[in-house]
Amino acid sequence: MVGQLGNPGPVTPEQLTAAAAGELLTLQQAAYITEARAHRNFDLPPLMDTLDHIRAAFADPAITIWGIRDGGRLVASVRMWVDGSIGEVRRLVVAPDRQGEGLGTTLLLAVEEATAPEVTTFRLCTGERSAGPLYLYGKLGYRETHRSPEADYHLVHLEKPRVRITG
Ligand SMILES: CC(C)(COP(=O)(O)OP(=O)(O)OC[C@H]1O[C@@H](n2cnc3c(N)ncnc32)[C@H](O)[C@@H]1OP(=O)(O)O)[C@@H](O)C(=O)NCCC(=O)NCCS
Repeated sequence: MVGQLGNPGPVTPEQLTAAAAGELLTLQQAAYITEARAHRNFDLPPLMDTLDHIRAAFADPAITIWGIRDGGRLVASVRMWVDGSIGEVRRLVVAPDRQGEGLGTTLLLAVEEATAPEVTTFRLCTGERSAGPLYLYGKLGYRETHRSPEADYHLVHLEKPRVRITG
């Protein structure tokens, strides 16, 4: 899929391999700093990920890791963890200097579409102070199901049914 973005350049989502683990770690750490500040918690799980954690995610057959490269540079990524009919979206990140261009939206929609047809429900969660991601997920059809306590804030859990286009 190729999106029409404000910033020129190829934006085709691709499945990443373990060779990208190092640059993914760097991207993740840069992107999640804003969320850490918003939650006054620099121990957010994505910021605690090590290279070994990311390599383990690449090795997990239930997880596919996707990314968008622009001129070779990894500028966005997301993981999809599949368990039966559930597809769980994790670690959606866009490089700080490339946020607001539609990359997050393009990547998430492309990955939903590429996920195994057995998946009928997509789930994800984010911190209650993550106003931007909550807005984005709402716009893409995710609805809150419940909240769970986490440190001194709550995680907001959202899901959406898969929409099948027939014809
Ligand atoms: C959340 C994130 C992936 C969004 O990626 P993005 O490429 O900037 O998002 P898009 O450009 O597709 O934005 C889609 C819409 O959401 C809004 N939005 C997204 N992130 C936002 C933010 N952090 N603050 C304010 N608005 C935001 C955009 O303004 C846009 O609104 P519009 O369609 O009305 O113009 C990116 O901001 C990021 O990496 N954040 C840090 C990591 C994170 O919080 N990940 C999600 C955790 S669950």
